[in-house]
Amino acid sequence: MNRRHFLASVSAAALAPLPALAAQDPLHLKAEAVTQQILPEGDGATSMLGFNGSMPGPELRLRRGVRAQIEVENGLDEGTAVHWHGIRLENRMDGVPMLTQKLIEPGQSKTYSFIPPDAGTYWYHSHHISHEQVAKGMMGPLIIEDETPPDVDHDITALMSDWQVQTDGSLTEAFNQMHSIAHGGYMGNFARAFLSQERVSTGDRVRFRLINAATNRIFPVALSGVRGVVVALDGMALAEPRAIEGLVLAPAQRADLIVDVTGLVGLDMMTRQGPYRLADLAVSGTNTQRQSTAIAALTPPDVPSPAAPTQHLTLTMMGGAMGGRHGGDDIWAFNDVSNLPSEPFGSFQNGETARITLENDTSFPHGIHLHGHHFYELDEAGNPGDLRDTTLVDAGKSRDILCVFDNPGSWLIHCHMLSHAAAGMRTWVKVT
Ligand code: C2O
Ligand code: CU
Repeated sequence: MNRRHFLASVSAAALAPLPALAAQDPLHLKAEAVTQQILPEGDGATSMLGFNGSMPGPELRLRRGVRAQIEVENGLDEGTAVHWHGIRLENRMDGVPMLTQKLIEPGQSKTYSFIPPDAGTYWYHSHHISHEQVAKGMMGPLIIEDETPPDVDHDITALMSDWQVQTDGSLTEAFNQMHSIAHGGYMGNFARAFLSQERVSTGDRVRFRLINAATNRIFPVALSGVRGVVVALDGMALAEPRAIEGLVLAPAQRADLIVDVTGLVGLDMMTRQGPYRLADLAVSGTNTQRQSTAIAALTPPDVPSPAAPTQHLTLTMMGGAMGGRHGGDDIWAFNDVSNLPSEPFGSFQNGETARITLENDTSFPHGIHLHGHHFYELDEAGNPGDLRDTTLVDAGKSRDILCVFDNPGSWLIHCHMLSHAAAGMRTWVKVT
């Protein structure tokens, strides 16, 4: 990323705050064309896609363990489907056209119904021609509330993304340009984080929910004006909170931070040319009530413990520019196959633990996402580390994961660089 190719990063205060979705049953999300001022005031507004008149879509807050009903109405002039990213839900509610449901055609609606089993930070997005529909804005935050939330003064979502825009505001719709697809994917020249709240006080304790909703961009992030720790990744509480330094979010990854405000708060993307401002928070007044106690770990998630793996599979990422030849018929492939094979990459008995080696045999990093489950990233010694739904594997590197396949159905595994997924890097597993 070259900063000179980026549009200026000025104060982000002009952005409209992330709207919230009012409680109703069922919740209603209408996919539709929207016009949004994402560029600074004075530059043009942008014609995009979104939900309920806004881009990003409104923040959905659901209760852990309580059934949610979400009616998605398609107000677009093409088909769509909505995926509830990271939620361990019933397969038929997963929102994947051709694998778990029929497309929601223009003018039609579909009600998704599921019980979210884990509290934490998730998001929703289109799962149809997603490298275009998500790039145009079809995404929003999905927060699963816990019965016992941590003691904080504010709970603030920061959904970050990037857009390829001209100064007149129009989107550059070069989604299918070969060159970018074979490299890092379609990326923006302008990046921002949308916040659900824009004012705090010095001394406040704040939970930040960072969501990388970009289609292809990896965000190394830094937060200034705060002191605190990372408490969760991809929705799942860390056993031990850890330092924020070096936090990197691949597309679709999330991080929850709990911090104390010490000064003006800024969220930056770190680039080789220095920090690029994604969002500013106004700070006014001082919170004198808050006792500055140590920040505790969040309630651990209720997930199955892995057993000794009964299968060890290898999934090799192939293709792209400066990559070797492969047997697939598209730009990218897994194990010599581009796009969804008729047979699953892996078949598991319900409850079976499997180890998968994710081998990156390409010249680009890939963020690999498994639907319907979380998995453990294994360290060098083979010990389970973080529980994730998306894992970043750098070019030429490999990572082993351990997963308890305890959710019956057909589940996608794909690169969450959505340009790569659209150009072949996806497969699926079957749990019976
Ligand atoms: Cu976030 Cu297959 O998706
Ligand atoms: Cu990729």
